[in-house]
Amino acid sequence: MTEPRKLHIKSYGCQMNVYDAQRMVDTLTPEGFVETSSAEDADLVILNTCHIREKASEKVYSELGRLRETKEDAARNGREMSIVVAGCVAQAEGGEIVKRERAVDIVVGPQSYHHLPQLLKRAKAEGRAIETEFPAEDKFASLPQPKPAAIRARGVSSFVTAQEGCDKFCTFCVVPYTRGMEVSRPVARIVDDVMRLADNGVREITLIGQNVNAFHGDDENGKPSSLGALLHRLAEIPGILRLRYSTSHPRDVDDALIDAHRDIPAVMPLVHLPVQSGSDRILEAMNRKHTSADYRQTIDRFRKAREDIAFSSDFIVGFPSETEDDFSATLALVEQIGYAGAYSFKYSPRPGTPAADMQETVTTRVMDKRLARLQDLIDSQQAAFNAAAVGKIVDVLFERNARNPGQIVGRTAYLQPAHVIAPADIIGSVLPVSVESLDRYSLIGTLAIPHAGTPHSFAMTPGA
Ligand code: SAH
Ligand code: SF4
Ligand code: F3S
Repeated sequence: MTEPRKLHIKSYGCQMNVYDAQRMVDTLTPEGFVETSSAEDADLVILNTCHIREKASEKVYSELGRLRETKEDAARNGREMSIVVAGCVAQAEGGEIVKRERAVDIVVGPQSYHHLPQLLKRAKAEGRAIETEFPAEDKFASLPQPKPAAIRARGVSSFVTAQEGCDKFCTFCVVPYTRGMEVSRPVARIVDDVMRLADNGVREITLIGQNVNAFHGDDENGKPSSLGALLHRLAEIPGILRLRYSTSHPRDVDDALIDAHRDIPAVMPLVHLPVQSGSDRILEAMNRKHTSADYRQTIDRFRKAREDIAFSSDFIVGFPSETEDDFSATLALVEQIGYAGAYSFKYSPRPGTPAADMQETVTTRVMDKRLARLQDLIDSQQAAFNAAAVGKIVDVLFERNARNPGQIVGRTAYLQPAHVIAPADIIGSVLPVSVESLDRYSLIGTLAIPHAGTPHSFAMTPGA
């Protein structure tokens, strides 16, 4: 038998990249590859890259510089190592990557990584392989979406792609260019994936997509389904205890989605709803196609459907021409909504996007200050949200052994990590936890209902 070849894969960027990286592993496993956690002893290294901000894509080149040295060391020891650049930088820059870093053997875009086995052969024969062609639109629509090779279960929680790509063309964003136009998967394929994952122990599904609530995949009758209808269908699958979806666009929140939060207990009461800015002038310049009042109304609709619903968001500070007044409107929006958490970023001009040509740029110094103020406010809201759980009984889906022996870690409905001392057989169950304290972002507690499980790796007090 031949030695298995070692594969090291590093992912940057969003959840879809994490998912794609897992799919690449699943595609290469039948080719005799096994995963390794270090690049040094790998035969194949894949960087699954992100192009969203300059920092993200520049990171790739510094990593490639290091990898070139690793590859040269390996060659001196008579070992061949191949380097693959996949993901959104690969899509955006294509063959340019090879010009900048000659150690790269393969460049493969997010629509083509299921061809990795063939690309490896091509690179071996021809010295290099580049595949970043965007399939023509009609072909794209008929692609087996997303790529073949079903995802393997990896624990209690799993991502499943519902849609990919985006047609919104926000003026700052590269996603429509790197991921292409919006394509939804047919309901039946998503159901198949979820059923198989549930059979293999998965209890929580997060439906992912760059714009997941624009989902309109065909249902069993060939009619477009809404995300709400899809959630109803998935909630019927035995074993599925929790459903989530990410990322949503405020403009695509329909009544079916709101009602799903009211009617389906498995749909978790945490919605990631990026708003980017609280200023209508900036929202317009960003081409978000909604006002801050529209956004507030959408939040209210969710809250009416489910009182305990919480929100997270994304913000950009320092978009071209953003004034102090515009920024104050963002702070006011955050104050008013009250988030469980949020990501905030300094605006980064991206080549090829309309905003990159806008003139009235905001200085780095101003951006830094605004970012710090916004993050302080969001941090205080998040801390208050977490502190509110102390003293309460909350449901936790247990996922795995924690670092401390005997401790099991899971997540609440709001994705807060929660630690308890308990037997390992609670992994995969949702159990009530009485929360006693906070350790930074983690909740610490005890099972609210005594659990008669098999003791494992910790001593049970005799007679207790
Ligand atoms: N589809 C999602 C977000 C995708 S990108 C949505 O519509 O909101 C994730 C986040 O990165 C965005 O929400 C935005 O806050 C941030 N982002 C995208 N492009 C950026 C840029 N050019 N500069 C700074 N942040 C950016
Ligand atoms: Fe980018 Fe806007 Fe599409 Fe989100 S909705 S992926 S920010 S273009
Ligand atoms: Fe980055 Fe591409 Fe995701 S640009 S955020 S990896 S869609």
